[in-house]
This record gives sequence, C-alpha cells and structure tokens, in this order.
Amino acid sequence: MSERWTPDSWRNKPVVQMPAYPDAKALADVEAQLATFPPLVFAGEARNLKKSLARVAKGEAFLLQGGDCAESFAEHGANNIRDFFRVLLQMAVVLTYAGALPVVKVGRIAGQFAKPRSSPMEKIDGVELPSYRGDIINDIAFTEAARTPDPRRQVMAYRQSAATLNLLRAFATGGYANLGSVHEWMLGFVKDSSQSRRYKELADRISDALNFMRACGLNLESHPELRATEVYTSHEALLLGYEQAFTRVDSTTGDWYATSGHMIWIGDRTRQLDHAHVEYFRGIKNPIGLKCGPSLKPDELLKLIDVLNPDNEPGRLTLISRFGADKVADGLPPLVRAVQREGRVVVWSCDPMHGNTITSTTGYKTRPFDRILSEVKGFFNVHAAEGTYAGGVHLEMTGQDVTECLGGARAITDEHLNDRYHTVCDPRLNAEQSIDMAFLIAELLKQERAGKAQPLPAAAGM
Ligand code: PEP
Ligand code: CO
Repeated sequence: MSERWTPDSWRNKPVVQMPAYPDAKALADVEAQLATFPPLVFAGEARNLKKSLARVAKGEAFLLQGGDCAESFAEHGANNIRDFFRVLLQMAVVLTYAGALPVVKVGRIAGQFAKPRSSPMEKIDGVELPSYRGDIINDIAFTEAARTPDPRRQVMAYRQSAATLNLLRAFATGGYANLGSVHEWMLGFVKDSSQSRRYKELADRISDALNFMRACGLNLESHPELRATEVYTSHEALLLGYEQAFTRVDSTTGDWYATSGHMIWIGDRTRQLDHAHVEYFRGIKNPIGLKCGPSLKPDELLKLIDVLNPDNEPGRLTLISRFGADKVADGLPPLVRAVQREGRVVVWSCDPMHGNTITSTTGYKTRPFDRILSEVKGFFNVHAAEGTYAGGVHLEMTGQDVTECLGGARAITDEHLNDRYHTVCDPRLNAEQSIDMAFLIAELLKQERAGKAQPLPAAAGM
C-alpha cells in the first residue's frame, strides 16, 4: 500500500471489474466534465450518517439498507421512487417499534448503477457480446452497439441520481414522512394481505400513542423528529473514474469525501487488499461498507480493516456478510471472533440476498424467501452466540409488485416468476415480501434486544 493517497492513486493499482471503454479520449472528457458538476451529497451529511452508524455499532440503533440491485434509466419515475420510499418507511416503523431503537435508513438508490459480473462476455445462440454492467456503463439490449461501454451514460446516471435524490429529500422532509401519516403509507395492493392487517394494527397503536401525547399537552408539531425523517443514499462504488470525479475536499475539515452518495461500499469481487478499489476507499472519509463473502479469511479481513479504518473510528466501517443460508453458521463466526479479538469497532450487517441466488425450474435467476430469512436468522444466531450486535440488514427490494423472489406470504412459485420479472440484474423482494421480512426481522430484533443489557434510551424519531 503506497503511503500517499490522492483521488487518482487507485489508477496505479491492479483493478478488476472495470469496463473496457473503446474511446479513451471520450471517457477522459466525460470524467473531466463530471468533475466540474455539483456534488450530490455534502460531507456534513456523510458525517451525520457515520455518527448514526456509530450508534448502530454500539447496539443503540439498527441499520436498514435496501433498494434495487441496479437502478435503471428505463424505470426512472416518481411512482417508483415514492413506492420504494414508502416501503422503506413502513419497514422502518415496524423495526423501530419492535426493537424500540432508532432505525438508520439507507437506500441502495440515487447512484446504484454499476454492476460487477461473473463473466466479461455473454453468449446467446452462438453470439458473444460484452456482459451488461449496469446502465451507467452499457445497455442491457443484446446488440453490439448497446453493449459497448459508452461514457456519456455516466452523465445520465449522475443526472438521474440528482433527480432521485431531490425527490427523496422532498419526501423525507416535506411532510410525506410525518409519523402522523403512518396509515397512508399502506400500498394499494397489499391492503388485503395478512401483512397489511398487521401493519394497520401497528399503525393504529402508533396513532393512539401520538393522540395520547397530544392529550397530555405535548405539541407534536414542534418536534421535527415526528414530522420528517432522514434517509441516506448508498451504492457500490465500482466505477472508479466516476467516483474520482465526485471526490471533493470538504471545505470545513479539509478532508476528501466521495460526494456521489452518503455511503459507498466495496463489492465482494473487488475487495483485494492491494487493488484499486481498496486504494480508493482508504482515502475518503465517508462511512463505507465492505461485502464479506465465504472466500474472505479472518486474517485478510483484519488487514483490510487496518487499511480501511486505521483509527478504529466507530461508524466508519460496516461489514456486510453475505454467506448464503447454508454457510452463515460456519462462515461468519471466525470473522466475528477475529474482529472482537482485535477490538475493532464495526457495524455487522447481513446481506441475505447474494448468497442465496438460484435458477428456477423455469430458467429465472431467483431467491427463495425462506432461504433469505434463514440467512438472517443464522446471522442473528451467530451474533447472539458471540455476544455481538446484529446491527442491520442489506436487502435487494423494490416498492413494486414484482415477481422475482420465490415464496413469501403470497407464495410466489416458479410459474409466477414470468408474470412481472422486471429487474435488470438480481431478483428483488417485492413490496409485500419486504414488509413481511421486516415483521420477521422485527421478531428477531426484539428477541435479541430482550436478551441483552438494555441499550441507552432511544432518541425520538425513527
Ligand atoms: C450487490 O450488492 O449487488 C453485489 C453485487 O453484491 P456482492 O458484491 O456481495 O456480490
Ligand atoms: Co445484486
């Protein structure tokens, strides 16, 4: 690891999962242009998120991170953003209530465009073309022109991220997230389900509590925590040229921040210690995530922590384990023990999606709801056994009524997948499955927190 870090020092390191742009000049021009554009987020917000994550690390809050596997240019509409936000709020309410803890809400949104692929090429009917790598890089259509990486797509991704973030901020602070509207977040198509009844009961209890406080003379309107909420953005910072262009010095501290999103993470395929992604991440001060899959050895993890969080700053590093339902019980404890032994402060979060992908009998890439839940349970069990906190979850989910993951309360089967399989990358939990999952996770959280020393009283808000 070289001593001196600069926003472009990653360029001197080996790199994997980066697209081969045919026109280097066009790429350099776009990157230079992006570097003049306004940042999407500001450093103070990233610091606030880091503080909230520091509370998660101490067991005083819970992290809910979720969104599309890959955002797409075609699905960039207000309804999509609203429906996602609404489901995230509903899930947060369910978890806040059960855990009596603040929930830190982080979307995989407003920048989640670039995808690592298992193979650089895709072959269909004897024709071989570059793999689709996300809308920020190329187009999913299977033609030579569509699959050729085009740097101008980075400008489109930036503009879409800005518009998405703008609407999210409006929803979060403009009245939509008012806790008094807890009933209105119900989505039309889940009205008759068992979750919607459960959710309504919860919403009734919250309304009762608010009415009670009002009757006691509390002026709830004067509490911003009840009228607005905080929602943060995150993405896998895979496309390092784009990230470099949005790496800016914070004028108040003089530190470098990634301003493409509040939190960024390193994928399971790009976490090599001496490679470009780790080099880039070590220099920025945002809260960051590191995906931890079955091939990660404890000593390697400790070396990565040394580089990524040398000052052991609470909230800086979230370890997102993604082992698969059948591997978590054996795979996770050695990592947790190593981190504990060395006294490293981290947030442990569970991505129960990426280790549980299968191909359905009908040929779709899918994930069984039961396996997803089983990995989450395994994750909570490991932390209960090790005396550490199950700090959060990282889900691929949408506010739409898609049919991409099997099972759930409405028992989506192999035959249903074809109905509304819309994802451009990995299968997501639909709105109903997401809320279902939140109730199930809420149970685990309640049990976990009941079995441990009471955390400090939760701050108001969710
Ligand atoms: C992802 O989060 O979409 C992803 C590719 O995950 P992982 O790096 O854990 O495979
Ligand atoms: Co994915």
